[in-house]
Amino acid sequence: MGDLFWNKVAGVLIAGILIVLVIKELGHTLVPTHAAHDLDEHNTAYPVDWAAIGGDAAESGPAIMPAVDYGVLLAAADVSRGESAIRQCSSCHTFVDGAGHSTGPNLWGVVDRGIGSADGYSYSAALSGIAGGWDYAALNDFLTSPRAYAPGTAMSFAGIRSESTRMNVIAYLRSLSANPAPLPAPLADMVEDVAADVMQDTPAETLAETLADTPAETSMEAPAEAPTEAPTGDDDQ
Ligand code: HEC
Repeated sequence: MGDLFWNKVAGVLIAGILIVLVIKELGHTLVPTHAAHDLDEHNTAYPVDWAAIGGDAAESGPAIMPAVDYGVLLAAADVSRGESAIRQCSSCHTFVDGAGHSTGPNLWGVVDRGIGSADGYSYSAALSGIAGGWDYAALNDFLTSPRAYAPGTAMSFAGIRSESTRMNVIAYLRSLSANPAPLPAPLADMVEDVAADVMQDTPAETLAETLADTPAETSMEAPAEAPTEAPTGDDDQ
């Protein structure tokens, strides 16, 4: 073994390390990496249909999924149990069409009705001051704790603790209409729809090229940054 043997080995090793470093730098220059929350239409490594996934992520941040899947919960709810459960409301509310108001407003057709908007009932400022309508999420929050949802509300009722009872009650309220509001789609279906839209708008060749071109590191780094932006969820739930 000549004197130069170990020099050659060292040379090959150093050259190898240099090549890896150069390729890595080249990769970063060609495809800059960004933290997940910095991504927008100008800096993603592959085309992303931002409209399909809920707008400009740079402005609005990652879309936060609602914690409660009303599509699943309401589909599983029991309307007749809801009808039994609203006995605790009937000291103050009427539920029949045209029955008139009691201590509280008549609740026929309350789903999707404007909050604090029944004709001929005088609401507290706490409730009439809330914009929007009684969608499933608003009803769920209000019925969990009326006082927490609308501080100062005239509805002196502690709330319904059990989520399944709340869903039964909401399903019953939904049935109090000539045209019940549609049930929301389960979140899993919505995610599938969005994914299908994105896949449809992105030609398969582009996806394949992108996957081949994306340095392994890019795909490793993005998720590692993501937890800092993780949704904190709703404390009330
Ligand atoms: C002690 C009486 C009382 C009980 C019991 C009660 N409510 Fe109420 N409710 C009221 C009053 C009063 C209001 C009006 C609140 C205000 O103006 O702040 C109201 C308002 C509401 C509203 C808002 C309606 C609208 O038009 O904006 C809904 C929905 C509602 N109640 C549902 C229920 C349900 C469901 C129950 C039973 C689980 C229930 N309430 C139990 C007194 C009561």
